[in-house]
Amino acid sequence: MNRISLIAGNWKMYKNITQAIELVSALKRELFFIETQRFEIVVCPPFTALSEVAELLYESNIELGAQNVHWEKEGAFTGEVSILMLKDLGCKYVIVGHSERRTYFGETDEIINKKLKAVLDEGLSPILCVGESLKQREEGLTFKILEEQIYKDLESINFQKVANLVIAYEPVWAIGTGRTATPQIAQEAQAYIRGLLNRIYSEEISQKIRILYGGSVKPENIKELIKQPDIDGALVGGASLDLDSFSSIIKYAYEVKK
Ligand code: PGA
Repeated sequence: MNRISLIAGNWKMYKNITQAIELVSALKRELFFIETQRFEIVVCPPFTALSEVAELLYESNIELGAQNVHWEKEGAFTGEVSILMLKDLGCKYVIVGHSERRTYFGETDEIINKKLKAVLDEGLSPILCVGESLKQREEGLTFKILEEQIYKDLESINFQKVANLVIAYEPVWAIGTGRTATPQIAQEAQAYIRGLLNRIYSEEISQKIRILYGGSVKPENIKELIKQPDIDGALVGGASLDLDSFSSIIKYAYEVKK
């Protein structure tokens, strides 16, 4: 199955508007040769920079993503941003259920499920993050946790809606720690996730859904990661904030996938 590779940069709570414009302008110059039919690039700036970045990315080979969304279309929800607002800006992707949101902002699988439905209903692509903590891995609970998260997060999302879904396997112990999962560990977990998708939906659908790896991805480790059969790309945090490291990650991955 030929899935289009995808590398997404999650900027988290970094970069003001000027810095965002600077980075995206430089990325456009560095990565102009990447062909979108084979390889997708996504940047997910903070909400405050989405509008300016959207303008810069118009008709380019880089897509726009957001880092979070509320599940209602509109309403009295102070401080929240809806999927219609993100769509209006030209966002194509939305990160949903990142472990930082689960841990620091109390996002439960029920909330994540609502967000996924809202994003899929509007025809955008959620990047659903799942992954075990260090303690859970050490206790041998990795597969159990992945199964619980996937089943709860995707509950009552039917096969017609799920086509746009992207999953990111992000072991919590690898996020921002410099401790990347080995390609074998990541492959094993991601093959397991694909197996779950096969069980929930079908072989055909499980083969279509892209599964990214996330957690301390760097230019030094992307090649071995992306060679694995069930790793279709990466969700990059820290290394996506820097022009050289993010564009190197993309160039190396593109080279492997050519
Ligand atoms: P990291 O973050 O690349 O800085 O480990 C990944 C993520 O949180 O998506």
